[in-house]
Amino acid sequence: MSSGKPAVRLALLGCGTVGSEVVRLLHDQAEDLTARIGAPLELVGIAVRRLGRERGSLPVDPALFTTDALGLVKRDDVDVVIEVVGGIEPARSWLTEALRAGKSVVTANKALLAEDGATLHDAAAEGGADLYYEASVAGAIPLLRPLRESLHGDRVTRVTGIVNGTTNFILSSMDATGAGFGEALDEATELGYAEADPTADVEGFDAAAKAAILASLAFHTRVTAADVFREGMTGVTAADMASAKEMGCTIKLLCLAERGEDSSGQESVSVRVHPAMIPRSHPLASVGDAFNAVFVEAEAAGQLMFYGRGAGGTPTASAVLGDIVAAARNRLSGTRAPSESAYAHLPIRPIGEAVTRYHISLDVADRQGVLATVAGVFAQHEVSIATVRQSGRDEDATLVIVTHGAPDANLAATVEDLRELSIVRSIASVLRVEGSPA
Ligand code: NDP
Ligand code: HSE
Repeated sequence: MSSGKPAVRLALLGCGTVGSEVVRLLHDQAEDLTARIGAPLELVGIAVRRLGRERGSLPVDPALFTTDALGLVKRDDVDVVIEVVGGIEPARSWLTEALRAGKSVVTANKALLAEDGATLHDAAAEGGADLYYEASVAGAIPLLRPLRESLHGDRVTRVTGIVNGTTNFILSSMDATGAGFGEALDEATELGYAEADPTADVEGFDAAAKAAILASLAFHTRVTAADVFREGMTGVTAADMASAKEMGCTIKLLCLAERGEDSSGQESVSVRVHPAMIPRSHPLASVGDAFNAVFVEAEAAGQLMFYGRGAGGTPTASAVLGDIVAAARNRLSGTRAPSESAYAHLPIRPIGEAVTRYHISLDVADRQGVLATVAGVFAQHEVSIATVRQSGRDEDATLVIVTHGAPDANLAATVEDLRELSIVRSIASVLRVEGSPA
């Protein structure tokens, strides 16, 4: 289809799991994209690390490939730079170069946005350029645009969800089939869900980066990865999962960002990522495979839920394509994407002040007075016990205690003191509990 208008010219940085699907969608949907934008899209170059890499039957001229990403970004015939490489450098240098030169940027790079989004937003403001990053959080799910635009008339109070597909795939497999951690991680990597270094997934860095991006948009405040309390899921054992099942729960790696008051009464935000037990009746409990789901709570809108594929080449490419269309339309009409909204400057509340509940599994000697001694430690730290369950006898007794909500600092101090008790042989596991009590 000919629109008569000159093409919007694209430079693609990265042609791996996501980039190759971007190439495919640009090719397969070329006619519709031209009709929607009002001009054709033209891919003028693709930067990769290894020119000789086998890339299957990509519908693209091999002459477009280069290893000189910066040279490609600087070319005069580039209107939009699409970055699907990942990492902090050299991606930051490429994107700031593009933005300062007034080129639109579409990126899926959550690590960079969470580490130093400020530099990108400042460069976009300086160059009068668009910065789009829908694919950086929750893959295919349209989530950032609703936060960035649709909810701008409301006041968001809380964002909770599952934002890492790899760990959700692993935890769902452990829950459903009792699969081992390593086996499930290998499968997630094979399916293209995991990061180049899967430590980023399993240790919670990827989810923390996404939490920072979500909190920045939700609370109009620059939140970086360093502001996010992070605990990965490598410590979750088959025994934890079995214990969760016995309580009618499952375990998920959650991201929680909330507005609230700190201990001095000042409005602040708390952002954390950690594994947590949730009741099976909780809507997040049924989110399986590499799916993501995010609840957004806002004062006027109430509760909203976003659900869909959170990882994988094609779903992520869908979000990238949406941003390319938006950026191309803006260029044709001379308009711009909404710029960064970070006027609120809310301070970050420390994890110690976050109110949560703990599930603690203790191996104790089953002697008279043990329960009273253990309960005394909770009372000392003003932590109220919701349930206690004992299994085994004599030297093999296990106590499973679930608390009511208390500040994390009190709960952590309770666990520290329990470790010091001679009647506690070991603390088998400590997990946070979210959702209404099981
Ligand atoms: P891959 O590792 O599959 O692809 C990375 C691409 O970047 C490869 O094509 C690689 O080249 C290229 N590359 C690496 N270093 C350079 C360099 N110095 N110069 C030029 N090209 C380079 O990653 P993904 O496609 O999985 O992820 C890309 C981005 O998208 C990351 O930021 C990731 O966090 C994000 N993302 C990924 C999702 C997923 O499900 N995979 C989902 C959402 C976001 P070569 O092909 O030659 O090796
Ligand atoms: N590694 C990421 C995940 C990719 O598993 O969620 C999507 O951002």
